[in-house]
Amino acid sequence: MKKYTYTIKAVLLGAFLAMVPSMQAEDLSVRHLANEQNIIVLDQAKKFLLLPVQEDAPEGKINVIIDNEAQLGQSINIRLAREKVDYYVPLDLSAYAGKTFSVDVTGVPAEALCWKEISLSDTFDMSNREVFRPVYHHTPVYGWMNDPNGMFYKDGVYHLYFQYNPYGSMWGNMTWGHATSKDLAHWTYEGTAILPDAWGTIFSGSCVVDKDNTAGFGKGAVVAFYTSAKPTPWGDVQSQSMAYSLDNGKTFTKYEHNPILTSAERDFRDPKVFWYAPGKHWVMMLAVGQEMQIYSSPDLKNWTKESSFGSMQGAHGGVWECPDLVEVPVEGSKEKKWVLICNLNPGGPFGGSATQYFVGSFDGKKFVNESPTVTKWLDWGKDNYATVTWSNAPAGRCIALGWMSNWQYANNVPTKQYRSTNTIARDLTLFRSGNELYLRSTPSAEIQKARDGKVNIPSFKVEGKHEIANLFEGNEGAYELVMKIQNAGASRIKFCLQNGKGEEVAMYYDTVRKQFVMDRSKSGIVDFSRDFPAVTAAPVEGTDEISLRLFVDRSSIEAFGDEGKFVMTNLVFPAEPYNKLAFEADKGGYTVKSLNIYKLK
Ligand code: FRU
Repeated sequence: MKKYTYTIKAVLLGAFLAMVPSMQAEDLSVRHLANEQNIIVLDQAKKFLLLPVQEDAPEGKINVIIDNEAQLGQSINIRLAREKVDYYVPLDLSAYAGKTFSVDVTGVPAEALCWKEISLSDTFDMSNREVFRPVYHHTPVYGWMNDPNGMFYKDGVYHLYFQYNPYGSMWGNMTWGHATSKDLAHWTYEGTAILPDAWGTIFSGSCVVDKDNTAGFGKGAVVAFYTSAKPTPWGDVQSQSMAYSLDNGKTFTKYEHNPILTSAERDFRDPKVFWYAPGKHWVMMLAVGQEMQIYSSPDLKNWTKESSFGSMQGAHGGVWECPDLVEVPVEGSKEKKWVLICNLNPGGPFGGSATQYFVGSFDGKKFVNESPTVTKWLDWGKDNYATVTWSNAPAGRCIALGWMSNWQYANNVPTKQYRSTNTIARDLTLFRSGNELYLRSTPSAEIQKARDGKVNIPSFKVEGKHEIANLFEGNEGAYELVMKIQNAGASRIKFCLQNGKGEEVAMYYDTVRKQFVMDRSKSGIVDFSRDFPAVTAAPVEGTDEISLRLFVDRSSIEAFGDEGKFVMTNLVFPAEPYNKLAFEADKGGYTVKSLNIYKLK
């Protein structure tokens, strides 16, 4: 319970209020200094200082001071409430228990509303407040998330770290958040794992399991590589750092000789490290401007540059980020090929962020692209970015995960308690089409275990229109549709997901252009960015026999067509769940041979 007496009338007194002393909780007081500096003095320690955030307020800075020294390696940037509170975020004080400390806040005027709303508490309510929060996708319980980081598998547990802002639901204060899962569909938040320090905030990177103790941190140590990103008055500086964990990724100790790799390049980031068995050495991929650089190391500490890749290859509409290099099996053979995953922003096929990849060979030092003239996209929607794969995955699997958003509007999507979701996990394999090898994305088998109830619709022919209402009784908008269609001469095989509010996601196969198309321009809330209402299209091999799996999870749709030969991932924000499927055909129509609807929990 809040222990202060603040009434709504006080808000109306605006100007007058600035002249009277702030009315704060009894166990803390605030001193306002010149030039928007403030000191919060805490009489009594509790676990959390609850900080009120207003998303459109400018950023101020916070640090904890003990014995005249700042305790946080980088001050926290936070949008403390000026006129209204959007939500609260907790500053965890448990590390300072029993010590005398104060909190230094700069860049926030004395008349800001936050001074009356800040409070101490032993609890922070993390229960869900968002209707758009997905059911079987990973999302942070609160705060901002972008790229998946440091994914590794060990002892039956999938570890997922992520670019995290624990102090607001917009990008900032980059920290590695940590979540674990045993089934790739349900995740447990494990808290923050790697925090900003004097070298900067913690940008994207990877983890390896050092089975042979090459680094000397211990056998089986989990070693994390990340970019230290330091904002300076003269510009941002990026370098690579490392940290190791002796408790399976729960806590990390930073390496004392960080940073381990520096450069004069401005964009120099996102280390992906893996063991190259034939050469018995480690490899690091780095995104540098618009190329990928390849380094090698015997011990994870000392790195030698071997080569760079990128000039005249693939799409270059923006900066290259978040690389990966994985060996992927070629279907129907014993062969494997190396696939270089390259995220790029902007420059995606439908604007903004997207993932491209190159298929070729790798000798431990140099990657050679087999088809330098072809650009290959991993996903044909607008919302699959920063895709990377799990290290040490079981049974030689190559399991990928993407961030389900786009830098064009990621900070503005209509959620508050949290912002951003990851895609479902996808197993990657290579298939041949003509002379080219392409990645097939199959929803990871684990996701099927989240199925909880099934509706089977018997085969029907669509000539004109056909509607299936009430996809599920009490539908909460988390389901998978599995559909097989036989074309009987239609040029457009159309089906729309709809709700009672007149909102819809229109999808169709264009049998003439050989495309699968998704149109979310009337899907619900679309006006938060002019880049959001979009139509995306994927090439398809044939349209006589169609098979499609659609994963719907409240605010996202992932379409896997032709057994994963194409994927399309798009966010949607409907006022209520889509619970109707409206089919439409022209000309000779088509037959829906089977339609299974699985509820997912
Ligand atoms: C990609 C990215 C990375 C960087 C991180 C920062 O989305 O820009 O290159 O490390 O986000 O949060």
